[in-house]
Amino acid sequence: MTYSRARSQALLERARNSLAGGVGSGVRLAEQPGPLYFERGVGPRIYDVDGNEYIDYVLGQGPLLLGHSPQPVIDAVREQVGQLLISAGEHVVEIELSERLQRILPVAGLVRYNGSGSEAVASALRIARAATGREKYIKFEGHYHGWPDPVIISYWPNPAQAGPREQPHAVPGSGGMVGHVLEEVIVLPWNDLEVVEATLRERGHEVAALITEPIMVNSGGIAPGPGYLEGLRRLTEQYGVVLIFDEVITGFRVALGGAQELYGVTPDLATYAKGIAAGLPLAAIAGRRELMDLIVNGSVLHGGTYNTHPLVMAGANAAVAYLERERDTVYPHLFAMGDRLRDGLRAVCARHGVPCVAGGVGPAVQLAFTNRPAIVDYRDYAARDQALYQKFVAQLAVRGVRTILRGTWYISAAHTADDIDATVVATDAALAAALG
Ligand SMILES: Cc1ncc(COP(=O)(O)O)c(C=O)c1O
Repeated sequence: MTYSRARSQALLERARNSLAGGVGSGVRLAEQPGPLYFERGVGPRIYDVDGNEYIDYVLGQGPLLLGHSPQPVIDAVREQVGQLLISAGEHVVEIELSERLQRILPVAGLVRYNGSGSEAVASALRIARAATGREKYIKFEGHYHGWPDPVIISYWPNPAQAGPREQPHAVPGSGGMVGHVLEEVIVLPWNDLEVVEATLRERGHEVAALITEPIMVNSGGIAPGPGYLEGLRRLTEQYGVVLIFDEVITGFRVALGGAQELYGVTPDLATYAKGIAAGLPLAAIAGRRELMDLIVNGSVLHGGTYNTHPLVMAGANAAVAYLERERDTVYPHLFAMGDRLRDGLRAVCARHGVPCVAGGVGPAVQLAFTNRPAIVDYRDYAARDQALYQKFVAQLAVRGVRTILRGTWYISAAHTADDIDATVVATDAALAAALG
């Protein structure tokens, strides 16, 4: 049967008259072979309005750690929906989830919730500034911490305009941003402890926070080099800088306790979203008590009408309870499926003579077509052959595999070895077509 997305295309045309660009988020405009309209998802599969079935590695850009429509989460939300939608007051499920997070997350002296990862990051930076009385923060080139002005800086800068590798310029990620945010941030290359050390030696007294994805999933799926996170911990302590791990992607995914459990390094604050709620819009900030007390004693404002929305909290509590109960089977499975996919992708690239790096950590797999032997920072990642990758992703969609344009493949607990093997078969044909 030939692949058709005629209905999606017709809906997109109609949507463009009312919904800006026909899509709900800017990044979806670039979708290959074009934005699609989806109807339902079950386990690792998602179905569009043209009746096409895809093995899904987008997983909602990460939240669907348990796959589509996970039963415990659906049941919990169903039960809650008839009882209370929102109260602007408290609900017992908030305590249950918070107690779970305290058990699971090394950083969690106390927790608070928001609706999106961007808000949780904003809270973390605000707490760090209030705690230190300093204003600047360090972020790393290629790391994504959300789309608001203070953080959408040097995410995917054009390397030709981004300055020297050791001292990158702060490059705004959008039009319409206020200029002073660029002066508040010090952008550094990742995985290079010497640069951090030299920067803090000179400017540590100005720096409130150092924020990092503990695994650089958003650009290249790069693992921290040996001793790197430990080094960041040591240096931030030495210079009185608040260390923030942005675990929006790594949290609950690379281990139940996230990257801080996997690598045994505990930050001062950490932010969560995506996997925490298995598809519902929830984020959290967790941190050392002395820091979180700043929002308790009122010196730092933390707000949000939709914070701890009962539907979302019921779903998240069910998701995290499931992960806690099944951790001994879920995480080995996620890692085994990640390795299986990585091995398959490497073999396919080798068969077609396409140099590649198939990396990432556990169930956050990353594929890049590149001549470089390894990808250790943003400049390596930016040098990949993205034109070929874009064709490859479009050819995969036609063959029933949906994956992310930037090279990330998210695997859920619902993906089976058969799904991975079928995917690898599709990648073989897709790469041949993309090269042809
Ligand atoms: C590491 C990281 N931090 C923060 C965010 C922002 O989260 P949200 O899109 O929920 O605002 C994202 C989103 O992809 C992310 O990957």
